[in-house]
Amino acid sequence: MTTTVLVCDGITKDGIEPLVNLEEVNLIFGKLEEIQELETINGLMVRSATKVTEAVLEKLPGLKIIARAGVGVDNIDVAAATKKGILVVNAPEGNTISTAEHTWAMMMSLLRNIPQANQSLKTGEWNRKKYTGQELYQKTLGIVGMGRIGSELAKRAKSFSMNVLVFDPYFPLEKQKELSVTSVDLDTLIQQSDIITVHTPLTKDTRKLLNADNLKHAKRGAFILNCARGGIIDEEALLHFLDNGHLAGCALDVFEQEPPVNRSLIEHENVVVTPHIAASTVQAQKNVAFMASDEIKSFILNKPLKHA
Ligand code: MLT
Repeated sequence: MTTTVLVCDGITKDGIEPLVNLEEVNLIFGKLEEIQELETINGLMVRSATKVTEAVLEKLPGLKIIARAGVGVDNIDVAAATKKGILVVNAPEGNTISTAEHTWAMMMSLLRNIPQANQSLKTGEWNRKKYTGQELYQKTLGIVGMGRIGSELAKRAKSFSMNVLVFDPYFPLEKQKELSVTSVDLDTLIQQSDIITVHTPLTKDTRKLLNADNLKHAKRGAFILNCARGGIIDEEALLHFLDNGHLAGCALDVFEQEPPVNRSLIEHENVVVTPHIAASTVQAQKNVAFMASDEIKSFILNKPLKHA
């Protein structure tokens, strides 16, 4: 029996080698909206652009598996899919290094005003004083969420001689020792960190995890980063504390709404932004597409799945 898989969001043939020569598969590339015979689709591979809502699932009666080439499955209605017996898999390991490296680049850009200084020099200014920055050395980095990406950041922070506080209720003691980090509760992390970075998925428990109530206890002059998911930090609260000077700056790769509508936040002079590109490297995109397609292959061949 042939399984028809629709590959969306610009994922190309060279990235999905496990499926390309599989006899049992019929591959189609394109957008859901462009497909005429939706009932023939049995598998769907997506990045974040395709929103697999309950209404979309209704139009796909033959669908058996959705593979997310990436980590976050917040563009998929997993509950609705599960109710219909559709399996949802992701590729959680493929873009860890790229996302950690991007977060690091954002942190350095933020503390050294690199985007602002770059812009200023390109427009003809020569202003050395205005762009005086800060060292990372001996600063306290607070990492919220110690999964794969948080852990990679902790390693990098240690090599920059930073102190690392972490908040993650599921982070094992032996890992804390291995990485030489200190586990604390969220309030302590917010109060004692010079730089705070979040690395959790977006769930009902993490939505607005950092908000006006707890951010008011952050150190005066603290920096905040979000390269995980828009919505984990309340954007209104961020803007408020940037405007009143309580926070020194923030770096954002992700937004509550993408593309962002809150222009006052992204245009703020102390905010460094990128358009959700933390995982956009040649290596990461190759890895996640390979892993997601390998999961579909296992499903078709009735083999155990790694990330169902
Ligand atoms: C992910 O969840 O894998 C990253 O945010 C990148 C993406 O959305 O594709």
